Formats: sequence, C-alpha cells, structure tokens
Amino acid sequence: MGNIKSRILSVGTYVPDKVLTNKYFESYLDTSDEWIMTRTGIRERRIVDPDNPMTAADMGCRAALVAMEKAKVKAEEIDGVIVATFTPDNFFPSTACRIQADLECKDAFAFDISAACAGFVYALTVANNMIVSGQAKTILVVGSEVISKTLDWNDRGTCILFGDGAGAVVLQADESGRSDRGILTCHLSSDGTMGDLLILPAWGDERFLSMKGNEVFKHAVRCMADSIYKVIDKTGMKLEDMDLLIPHQANIRIIQALANQMGIPMEKVIANLDKYGNTSSASVPLALEEAWMDGRIKDGTKIVFVGVGGGFTVGSVVCVM
Ligand code: UT7
Repeated sequence: MGNIKSRILSVGTYVPDKVLTNKYFESYLDTSDEWIMTRTGIRERRIVDPDNPMTAADMGCRAALVAMEKAKVKAEEIDGVIVATFTPDNFFPSTACRIQADLECKDAFAFDISAACAGFVYALTVANNMIVSGQAKTILVVGSEVISKTLDWNDRGTCILFGDGAGAVVLQADESGRSDRGILTCHLSSDGTMGDLLILPAWGDERFLSMKGNEVFKHAVRCMADSIYKVIDKTGMKLEDMDLLIPHQANIRIIQALANQMGIPMEKVIANLDKYGNTSSASVPLALEEAWMDGRIKDGTKIVFVGVGGGFTVGSVVCVM
C-alpha cells in the first residue's frame, strides 16, 4: 500500500456559451479594453445565461462526464466525488452530492471543499491522499464556479476579472507499482489573518465578492513561489527538472511576476486566462486541458500545479503524467 501513487487519467471541462468581451464593460463603466488587457491579460470571459443560469453542479457534471468518457471510467467505478467551489448550489446538500446523484456514482462519497482559488489544488491533494492511503481507488476531482452571480457589476476593480466554468479530472490509483509517475508530492498552507483582503460574505444584504487587488497581487506572487519551492524540495528534484507550470489563472501579470521571480521561462508556463478570465477553482483544469489537447503534455511530462486564493490559501502539487 505504501507505494501506491495516484494518476490523473483525464481532464474534462465545460464553459458556458455566453462570451463577454472587454468591450462590453466599456459600454457602462469607466474602463477600456486596453486597460483590462494590459493590467490583467484578459480579453474575454464566459458567463452563465443570467436569465437561465446553470449552477456549479450543472457545469461540474458536464466537465466530469467528459473526463470520465476520456478515461473510459464508468460511474460505478467512481469511489468519491470531491468538488472545489466557492459558488455552491446550496450550503447543503453539497454540490458534490448533486454531481454524485446526477452521474449515478452509486455509493460514492461526495463533499465540497472551500479554498477559493486554491480549491482545485486542495481537492487534488485530498483526493491523492485518500488514494495513497488505500481508502479509494478512483476519485472525480471537480472545480466549478458561477462567479458571475457573486459580482458587483458596477465595481470595475472586480467585475472585469472573473468568469464562469468548470473542470474535472479522474484521479486513479496506479497499480503498476511504478514510483516514477503520478502525483509525487503536495504542499498546502493557509493564512487566515489575511482573510479580509479577498472576501465573499455568506450573510447580509451586500453580498458581493470584494478585494484589495493590489495587496492580493503581491501576496499571491510571494506565497505561490514559496509553495512551489517547498513542494519541489520534497521531491528531491530541482525546479529546472519541471517541464510545465500550471498556475491558477488570476492575472497574467501575477503569472509573469511569479515566473520571473523564480527564473522559469514563460514557454514552460500555461496561461489561457485571456479566454476565460479568473475562473477560480476551474482555472487549473481549464489550463491543464488546453495544454493536454495541444500536445504539451505527454507521458512523463513533469508538471507543477499551483493555486492561491481567498483565505488566504495556497497549495501546489508535483505530478508526472
Ligand atoms: O484569484 C485571486 C483573485 N484576485 C486577483 O487575482 C486579483 C489580483 N489583483 C489584480 O489582478 C490587480 O491588482 C487588479 C487587476 C485588480 C488591479 O490592477 P493594479 O495594477 O493592481 O491596479 P490598482 O489596483 O493599483 O489600480 C490602479 C488604478 C486605480 O485608479 P487610481 O486610484 O490610480 O486613480 C483604480 O481605480 O486603476 C483603477 N482601476 C481601473 N481603471 C480602469 C481599477 N480597475 C479598473 C478598471 N478600468 N477596470
């Protein structure tokens, strides 16, 4: 049992059809396509239809189905569903329980994780530990967000940044006994003293996502770098040995600053937030999917995933595909 590793067999994604370009915001806010592009790298984002909105479970189901089809894994083989989201369908039942029911993953355990934009990396870490410990063999790990419903659409400092979407991976125990592939190490940490910097209240009349963007920016770069150093250190490998960095997609300048500070060439970094904006827990699987589809991920590719979010939460995972 001690040698079991978990492997990412596949990834599936779903984004709503409705595209909001930066031009849309020019129509009613004191902002511009140029400001948004140069300050964030975001060109457009997807949002759910405001008149008939899909939920996090609706989108998570679609992403999970794609991942299951790609991995040729049937619903009855899924032992557990773990969903990272800060925009759940309900406080309870969890979004994961709805996905478990809709996909008919009979008897699978299901629960949500709240770690904001680090949610997917947190969920991947928890799922990995459940597999490595022998508690489960196959787990669906989902990140799904309907952030458009949490925004103050008149706050130009936040509403331009976010988008809706979902991503899912099938994580499975690798029974080959090989120790050189699969998830090698994980690192998680939190700092609740900085909770006020980025917050979405659960109660009260004014329930909008708010943040101190500039402070979040600096903290994000600092703590993602720290987490990456720690997770790589545990592998015994070097940062240069890694083939790809798949970071949470918040702002291209955050990603560039991180890569620059750590001496990672941008060719090794996956960024697709120009198309989706910041989709929180869906951003890492959306970036993973793009890199996998365009051939940048092959057997043996060494990937570092890193996420940071409100809490503050930060986490990273080293995975050999
Ligand atoms: O997953 C984690 C979630 N959060 C984040 O990732 C956000 C991290 N932070 C950021 O991405 C950046 O801080 C922002 C994109 C939010 C802002 O960029 P910035 O370079 O840090 O700008 P700033 O906050 O220092 O603001 C500069 C100016 C301000 O005007 P004044 O006070 O200098 O007159 C803002 O009011 O830019 C103004 N501003 C805008 N102007 C045009 C803020 N938002 C906009 C906007 N259009 N949309």
